[in-house]
Amino acid sequence: MFIRNQWYVAAWDGEVGRKPLARTLLGEPVVMYRKISGEVVALADACPHRMLPLSMGMIEGDDLRCRYHGVKFNAAGQCIEMPGTAQKLDFMKAKTYPVVERYRFVWVWIGDADKADPDLLPDLWPCEKDGWAFEGGAYFIKANYKLMIDNLMDLTHETHVHPGSIGQAEILEAPLEVSHVGDDIFVKRWMPGVENPPFWQMNSGIRGKVDRWQICHFMAPHAVIIDVGVAPVGVVGGIDGERTKGANGFVIDLMTPSGEDTCWYFWGLARSFHVDDPGFGQRAKTAQGKVFMEDVEILEAQQASIDANPGRRLRAFDIDGGSVRARAVLDRMEKAQATQAAAAE
Ligand code: FES
Ligand SMILES: [Fe+2]
Repeated sequence: MFIRNQWYVAAWDGEVGRKPLARTLLGEPVVMYRKISGEVVALADACPHRMLPLSMGMIEGDDLRCRYHGVKFNAAGQCIEMPGTAQKLDFMKAKTYPVVERYRFVWVWIGDADKADPDLLPDLWPCEKDGWAFEGGAYFIKANYKLMIDNLMDLTHETHVHPGSIGQAEILEAPLEVSHVGDDIFVKRWMPGVENPPFWQMNSGIRGKVDRWQICHFMAPHAVIIDVGVAPVGVVGGIDGERTKGANGFVIDLMTPSGEDTCWYFWGLARSFHVDDPGFGQRAKTAQGKVFMEDVEILEAQQASIDANPGRRLRAFDIDGGSVRARAVLDRMEKAQATQAAAAE
């Protein structure tokens, strides 16, 4: 089941331009393009005539022409031209989706259009804060989006999945603190006086021992942002200290279900260090992309194993506290949606 009536990231802002871009979001094929003004249009990606994907069509001004029989649709999805017929084609309309651009992403509302409210976007403040820079990428993953939420809410996996970059044995030794504020779930880990791992050596320029931290924050149904960083030992003074005194960043993770067990994963790093150095941003993005590709490999293998073992279930222990709580929130949202749908029927 997909959780509807939410904004989902459909693309990075730079991915949508004057060529149609196709993405399947929550099982719905969507085509996006930009009008001449730059505004993004999102339409159902199936021509109302004979269902050819409109993403195969041609953009003409602010309109999109189907490649098959040449029916033309405007940005409101209305058919405005059909070569070769005098028939009135008002009934031919492509569904439109509400769109908002924020935090460098194109968000598409999946659900009842009249409920689309930009105030419902998750608060990704590090992506647009003065004095910070934000870069990232996107991966299509053959795994359910909840497996990525599990992964991000339990960074214990870094030790074995990312040994050459951000993983280190001390992650396994540092205690975890799981908490919540309403439906927002937090997992905190403070690692005092540890070796600076390679990824953070490059980011902070600090050699030798550091205090390191991770604060994972889940915002239902699809966002995890992680306050991460390192600082010279003693400078920050604990996980609730002034973390900006160190090399401080936020890992930004947005999961958009595509099919039942596939998803789009939009990732990035918002950083408060080397902000005026685009070359550094590119190197950090390349490094982060390599690290996250290691997660993709794990998740796809995990999903395949889940599929190959029907009837067995996932187990949890202490380290899974954050993801268990996150899934409980998702369960509740799914149940509420099912109850509402049943009542409407
Ligand atoms: S299928 Fe699009 S115009 Fe015929
Ligand atoms: Fe990972």
